[in-house]
Amino acid sequence: MTDFVMDSCSVNEKGHLTLQGLDTVELAKEYGTPLMLMDENKIRSICRLYKSSMAESFGQDSVPLFASKALSFKGIYRIMAEEGLGCDAVSPGELYTINASGFDMGKVVFHGNNKTDEDIRYALELGVGRFVVDNTEELEAVNRIASELGKRQKVLLRITPGIDPHTHKAVATGRVDSKFGSAIATGMAESITRAALECKGVELTGFHCHIGSQIFEIQPFVDAASIMMEYISDIKSKTGFIASELNLGGGFGVRYVKEHPHFDYAGAIAELACAMKKIAEGHGIPLPAVMMEPGRSIVAAAGLTLYTVGSVKEIPDMKNYVSIDGGMTDNPRYALYQSQYEAVVANRAAEKAEYVCSIAGRCCESGDLIAENIRLRKPVKGDILAVLVTGAYNYSMASNYNRIPRPPIVMIKDGKPYVAVRRESFEDLVRNDM
Ligand code: LLP
Repeated sequence: MTDFVMDSCSVNEKGHLTLQGLDTVELAKEYGTPLMLMDENKIRSICRLYKSSMAESFGQDSVPLFASKALSFKGIYRIMAEEGLGCDAVSPGELYTINASGFDMGKVVFHGNNKTDEDIRYALELGVGRFVVDNTEELEAVNRIASELGKRQKVLLRITPGIDPHTHKAVATGRVDSKFGSAIATGMAESITRAALECKGVELTGFHCHIGSQIFEIQPFVDAASIMMEYISDIKSKTGFIASELNLGGGFGVRYVKEHPHFDYAGAIAELACAMKKIAEGHGIPLPAVMMEPGRSIVAAAGLTLYTVGSVKEIPDMKNYVSIDGGMTDNPRYALYQSQYEAVVANRAAEKAEYVCSIAGRCCESGDLIAENIRLRKPVKGDILAVLVTGAYNYSMASNYNRIPRPPIVMIKDGKPYVAVRRESFEDLVRNDM
């Protein structure tokens, strides 16, 4: 098998898995395992695809915002700055990291369904470009604190369009009963919109919606965008307010395994624009400046994780376990969502994968698995196992459970590796212990 779900992976003359032409087995030797490897060129090419497709479909005012929750460290924001993207942040910790990277905070959108007054003050002091306000208590707090600081804060309101896309229930967010935003169907959207228009410390610029993540069908996105355009028109006729901005959130699906379809990002953006323009023309309203918040689709397929195999345990007539030196602490996605992955024995990457096994992590917990019933070339102790498409929601969701240090992130740019995030040390683990 030399055809991988990650297109920048291949096999070299030694039969080793490569990323951007670099031997992953050599990189594992040099940097140790577990190791997160990321292809910077791939990240940049997807950023450019989003930028150019959005400019073409929505005009030059449109902007993709990288969703920090997918991957957050200083270096990723320097890449986003160079590529001309904005960023979405959902916590003061993400805001702090973005600011520490030197990023223009005016291009940051601040999310969250329960921002504290301290978070709001901090974001206002940092000069965050826009707040996405979730609820009326938050609206009141932003208005009050901005007024105290002598500011008028640009705000988008998070609206729930009432869409139920086909994705894991933990990552579906656009339904009327979602914990996020104010639903159109319940009248809460209209009442928070009217309230925002009364606030002196708030400049309402428009609306935001996000229907969920890892969605492969285009139609739910088109439906949500259409509902939002209808809402904009309805609000205009009721209040005279014309939204100048519409943020459509993130959520485009990523191919983790070969059974997943290819998602045409540019095609989907063009379809969204077409549906929105039709409604704008039909109702005689201007097309707002469009923002999108891709996270997974920008970084997932740029990353893979390398582990060292420690043991292969065969339980007769039951199960085979391949144990690795990482697991749910660097990738909790199988434990949380039963997410599927493709894995390869990196030092025997060209050999046939016929051994059915489960990949077990090193935590003291039976649920610490990365995959079940996956096919690998039968590994032995000391082999390097690569798990592909781990660039999104792996490092950002990593933990120190069992006091396991987080792995480093090594980026590869133009065929050269560099450490973007160093490996956590034991000293890092006790840093806050008194
Ligand atoms: N914007 C908002 C408001 C969001 O809530 C999200 C994701 C995004 C943008 C980015 O969506 P993306 O393009 O990455 O699909 N931990 C889960 C994913 C949670 C997604 C939460 N919100 C996972 O590992 O699958």
